[in-house]
Amino acid sequence: MNVGIIGGLGWIGRSLGRALIETGRIAAGDLVILTRAGQPGEFYGHKVAWANSVADLVAQADVIVVSVRPQDWPALDLQAQGKLVISVMAGVPLRALPPRTVRALPNAAAELRQSYTPWLAGPGVTAEDRTTVAQILTAIGTCDAVDSEHQIDLMTATAGAGPAYSALLARAIIGFLQAEGVRPEVAQRSAEAMICGAAPLMAGKMAEVEDLVQVFLDYKGTTAAGLTRAMELGFEQAVKAALAAATDKARAMSASA
Ligand SMILES: NC(=O)c1ccc[n+]([C@@H]2O[C@H](COP(=O)([O-])OP(=O)(O)OC[C@H]3O[C@@H](n4cnc5c(N)ncnc54)[C@H](OP(=O)(O)O)[C@@H]3O)[C@@H](O)[C@H]2O)c1
Repeated sequence: MNVGIIGGLGWIGRSLGRALIETGRIAAGDLVILTRAGQPGEFYGHKVAWANSVADLVAQADVIVVSVRPQDWPALDLQAQGKLVISVMAGVPLRALPPRTVRALPNAAAELRQSYTPWLAGPGVTAEDRTTVAQILTAIGTCDAVDSEHQIDLMTATAGAGPAYSALLARAIIGFLQAEGVRPEVAQRSAEAMICGAAPLMAGKMAEVEDLVQVFLDYKGTTAAGLTRAMELGFEQAVKAALAAATDKARAMSASA
């Protein structure tokens, strides 16, 4: 399988290309890269193939990954010749893409091969294509097929937000501590302990969050007092409203694409 990546030196493109080679999914010579900025020779020490144009990449590749920014898509003039296309462009809906396209939504953790990448298959995508797509996307982490463009918008609002909501939470924690006279660096370390320390403890436990919250509430200690106040003040409603606003924005961006 030859995989061609348009925008293969960008953040997502290079992360995927490198991961495809280094996880053994394809040989280096089977990766074809198209850039705008010329051909730098080796790609992370690998001897890959370079394309001179979109048409040249399509001719060389079995699977075409479109990893340019959404605003660069209209000028690309991709004639995919019926080949399988994987678009990672946020906000570009399936109706604007060739029929045999999978729309995938990786996140910045692709660089660490820890992306969560939901994807949606277009009407011309075959069962065999789906297997191919899963092979490609799992090079950069985990992935799930989803059922609708709406679910892609929901994923854009949630996993696609990366560390944004954690950053907002950290800002609130740090602000609270500093207002109580705690030195900034101590406040920052405390917030880091609260957020980054929680991450490995929560990993793989999302099916248990209901029980986890209840354990803290049942303990009837300081954390229970804090959680109870957060719930009274509408913490969960605020999060849901924020995610709904982000989903609406994703939908509006797709509608105008
Ligand atoms: N970064 C993320 O976390 C993330 C998450 C989800 C989805 N996405 C999507 O992934 C796509 C790529 O994002 P990115 O962050 O990797 O952007 P990026 O770093 O800007 O990479 C895009 C690359 O595409 C190249 N390019 C643009 N037009 C081209 C053309 N006609 N031919 C060949 N190469 C071309 C650009 O070259 P120049 O350097 O010359 O401009 C650049 O290297 C976007 O559509 C974005 O919506 C990104």
